[in-house]
Amino acid sequence: MFIRKLSSAVILGIAGSFVCAPLAHAATTVIPSTSFSSYSTLESYWAYLYPWGSDHNGSARMKGSSSDHSNIVVASNTLSLIATPTSNPNPPTSSSNPHPAIHYASGAIHAKSQITVTAANSYTISGEFSAPTVRGTWPAFWLTAVNGWPPEADIGEWKGTANNWYNTFNTSSIVRSDLVSWPTDLSFHALKVVLTAQPNNADVKLQFYMDNVLRATQYGQGFVGKPMWLIVNLQMEGSAGSPGPTGTTTYKIRNVVVTRSGS
Ligand SMILES: *[C@@H]1O[C@H](CO)[C@@H](O)[C@H](O)[C@H]1NC(C)=O
Ligand SMILES: *[C@@H]1O[C@H](CO)[C@@H](O)[C@H](O)[C@H]1NC(C)=O
Repeated sequence: MFIRKLSSAVILGIAGSFVCAPLAHAATTVIPSTSFSSYSTLESYWAYLYPWGSDHNGSARMKGSSSDHSNIVVASNTLSLIATPTSNPNPPTSSSNPHPAIHYASGAIHAKSQITVTAANSYTISGEFSAPTVRGTWPAFWLTAVNGWPPEADIGEWKGTANNWYNTFNTSSIVRSDLVSWPTDLSFHALKVVLTAQPNNADVKLQFYMDNVLRATQYGQGFVGKPMWLIVNLQMEGSAGSPGPTGTTTYKIRNVVVTRSGS
């Protein structure tokens, strides 16, 4: 009954928009909600690890490939990034600043499509997240510059406390951060950002949502026209404090959707 009503409403909606608003509002799906339905769909929209490799500024070294799914798993339309301690008495150090010792093997993926906001388009990026919040766990869902740095904008960044941080970096020291409290029970909650060029065609407005409620609006200086990577990773320690967990940590992500309206 509910489904019948819903589908007639959808049909009416489509018919209505066809009459009132043709093609002008057409949106292109860059990443569909099904990208975590199998390893083959994962690999058509995402690549393993960070765009620059396995290391960043925490104590996890990312590991994964089409033949190694110990830290990057898809099942039931859900991506699981899994951090496991590496008990090495003489650990290697990260190749990225500030070169922390590696204490975990973990997972990261990045979207194959780059995100470039222009005066002629806007992007909506959303997903649902079950994020660990205990000390030393540093999961994220974020955008970072393809060339140089910034731009960086963090849609999801949990730094070992019961908060999600929305951040936009103009420079390394000029940063806007807005915190929203995040449940610690590992339940899934939705995050979304809408990115649009400002009228000056240089800056980008970022509207950040949690569970479909607008929670923060930030502005990125000069972000228009600059390509960005979309990354999902489970980093450890670093900004999230230490020591991190002695057992396995899992960060789950589902229903990631990226759409672009305009060109
Ligand atoms: C970053 O730059 C934008 C555009 O100039 C500005 O609106 C915003 O306030 C700046 N952010 C911070 C933290 O100053
Ligand atoms: C790690 O790098 C990210 C992205 O460049 C930056 O936002 C963050 O502040 C850095 N944190 C530490 C602890 O180095």
